[in-house]
Amino acid sequence: MTRNAYRIAVIPGDGIGKEVIPEGLRVLEAVAQRFDCAFAFDHFDFASCDYYQKHGQMMPDDWKEQIGGHDAIFFGAVGWPETVPDHISLWGSLIQFRREFDQYVNLRPAKLMPGVTSPLAGRAPGEIDFMIVRENTEGEYSSIGGRIFEGTERETVIQETVMTRTGVDRILKFAFELAQRREAKHLTSATKSNGISISMPYWDERVEKMATAYPNIRWDKFHIDILAAHFVQHPDWFDVVVASNLFGDILSDLGPACTGTIGIAPAANINPERRFPSLFEPVHGSAPDIAGKGIANPVGQIWAAAMMLDHLGHTEASVAVVEAIEAVLAQEEFRTPDLGGASDTGSCGRAIAGAILEKR
Ligand code: NAI
Ligand code: MG
Repeated sequence: MTRNAYRIAVIPGDGIGKEVIPEGLRVLEAVAQRFDCAFAFDHFDFASCDYYQKHGQMMPDDWKEQIGGHDAIFFGAVGWPETVPDHISLWGSLIQFRREFDQYVNLRPAKLMPGVTSPLAGRAPGEIDFMIVRENTEGEYSSIGGRIFEGTERETVIQETVMTRTGVDRILKFAFELAQRREAKHLTSATKSNGISISMPYWDERVEKMATAYPNIRWDKFHIDILAAHFVQHPDWFDVVVASNLFGDILSDLGPACTGTIGIAPAANINPERRFPSLFEPVHGSAPDIAGKGIANPVGQIWAAAMMLDHLGHTEASVAVVEAIEAVLAQEEFRTPDLGGASDTGSCGRAIAGAILEKR
């Protein structure tokens, strides 16, 4: 194999995960024909509710050994609430990957695509195009705290925010590096130092410090409340937005929601140092209501493949996949029902793969 050969762990999971993954792989195969890269796909049936029903657990005990050496994980969706409660399926699989593989960056694009009606009036493709960088391991989502005097008048509940210099600096560095690679070279930080008066001023301090290493990047900050409003009223202001775990959680749903449907949104869970594989997935779940019908929108999964290519260093191929998605969505004929069309999953996926090969 050549230097640009990658071993990818493929985990379809449940429901429509099994329907959209093949379209993602189809597109990656088209990419391998056009660009200087090759993929070896290893398929795994764990991290699914079918696996749980057979084995009584979501994953084998040695799952880390089985997929820890791969270059990336290409993931569909997990969850089948009819047979396995969601907290078991999600905590027994996806959450384990994120934690054990120290995927401390959660990255989501918010980009308005042709053929998708934005819930924001008067916005056209090209006007909204930004990335949300969420800290994924600490911050507000710590398990430090507890309850005392339960059931009495003095009942007291505390949950602490944890910000470490290592944790804050590494997410900021990732965000500045990302901004550096983008044309607009603009970074926005989400804060709330007027209300959360200890940890958020610290976050701001670290942003200011990190910015000195990137003098060519224009940066600003907004309190989270007005920032959320700006996402809706001025989505064209943003390029890279970096936020703590909680703020990032909210923004990374709000941003993509401003650009249309859940069926097209992708996400990456990244370990930038590459000590562990990073995971690329669509934002949506297993969609039991449409599973088995062949009508799921494959674009979220295919766009996740584009993010994986970018992570692997194939920027040109990544851009080509996003352009192929745009070209195909612009044609009504290939839009799935969630976009108001009548296409099926396979026709949409084949059209995108075809658009990539066309330019060979
Ligand atoms: P969901 O994202 O699966 O579905 C929400 C709605 O969006 C449904 O009406 C569905 O038909 C539609 N939808 C989702 N993806 C679509 C696509 N590609 N094309 C067309 N329509 C699409 O969320 P829901 O229903 O809350 O959860 C279902 C299961 O998925 C649960 O078990 C949940 O825990 C799991 N889940 C897993 C995620 C993951 O693996 N990362 C993320 C979200 C939910
Ligand atoms: Mg969320």
